[in-house]
Amino acid sequence: MSETHKPAPREAEAMSDDGASDTPADAAAGDTDDRERNLSVLERYRPLVDDFEAFRAACARPLGYVVRVNPLKASVERVERAYREAGVAHERVEWHDRLLRVETDSPGTSWPYVHGWIYPQEEVSTLPVLALDPEPGETVLDTCAAPGSKTTQVAAAMDDRGTLVANDSNLGRLAPLRSNAQRLGVTNAIVTHRDARNLSLQPFAVDAFDRTLVDAPCSCEGTIRKNPDALTEWQRSYLDDVAELQRDILTRAVEVTREGGTVVYGTCTFAPEENEAVVDSVLRERDCRLVGVDLPLHTEPGVREWQGTEFDPSLDRAARVYPHHNDTGGFFCAKLEVTG
Ligand SMILES: C[S@@+](CC[C@H](N)C(=O)[O-])C[C@H]1O[C@@H](n2cnc3c(N)ncnc32)[C@H](O)[C@@H]1O
Repeated sequence: MSETHKPAPREAEAMSDDGASDTPADAAAGDTDDRERNLSVLERYRPLVDDFEAFRAACARPLGYVVRVNPLKASVERVERAYREAGVAHERVEWHDRLLRVETDSPGTSWPYVHGWIYPQEEVSTLPVLALDPEPGETVLDTCAAPGSKTTQVAAAMDDRGTLVANDSNLGRLAPLRSNAQRLGVTNAIVTHRDARNLSLQPFAVDAFDRTLVDAPCSCEGTIRKNPDALTEWQRSYLDDVAELQRDILTRAVEVTREGGTVVYGTCTFAPEENEAVVDSVLRERDCRLVGVDLPLHTEPGVREWQGTEFDPSLDRAARVYPHHNDTGGFFCAKLEVTG
């Protein structure tokens, strides 16, 4: 198929000639067409995925709600009791001792949410912080932090001790970042509004960070189960544009992390242009090396070649998460050690 996917005009999908809404049946057929068109974007990954039909079928299935329990405020047992008392069905996620699957359409309107006991967060979204493995007392940078799911997870892993710089360049997203950190009882985080591509160390009075997380802006292909519109505006050219931004952010992340320190790069997309190609280019230009990512669910190695371009062989130490393997969203995660 062509790699440029233009969305059909919306008015042609939703409205009849006289401007009235379609019948529910027509709308459902439109939804199906939209979904099929969106899923067709994923065809380009057929050469990468082991069982492409299972992958595609998983991408078409909606994803349920998962919440991460915030140990700064509550135990898993306390949250389970609150859900039991509220009559909300829930179960533990096997591979992560602080995640619960919850049967609700609005995990953000419950008492556990209001108290800051939980953060609604997709299972795969917890992976980069597991890879980063921050420790209490360290100095940690979250380059692209808003609205704060990983910042609050990092703060919890640090037991709210040490210094966590939570940065984002989008002013409008800083308010939710701040309020999420406050709601979850995080006190060791400083929120900054900088472009991570040229973040200065000067305001922080440190020579370098111990660990840095790059949860990069991306084309979000792996979120299609949660957001069926994620691929509606997909354009091949966007991948190259965002890859340049990702490369610049990751480059700066390596520069501001101490020798021997850790940088984790993550995206919620499948595109090698935004994943292996970005890491490959930073490996070539900066003093760092890829180390293995040991994650507690089924992952596939990063790819070493894509559409005629070969990547550094160590890229197979990166981890790809496909939706059909663990019944999750999609994710990419790479862990770097700074060597100079
Ligand atoms: C995938 S989202 C981050 C999600 C967040 N880490 C979380 O877990 O809640 C990517 C973020 O990168 C931010 N961003 C985009 N370009 C940036 C830049 N040049 N510098 C810093 N942040 C940037 C966006 O505003 C967006 O909030």
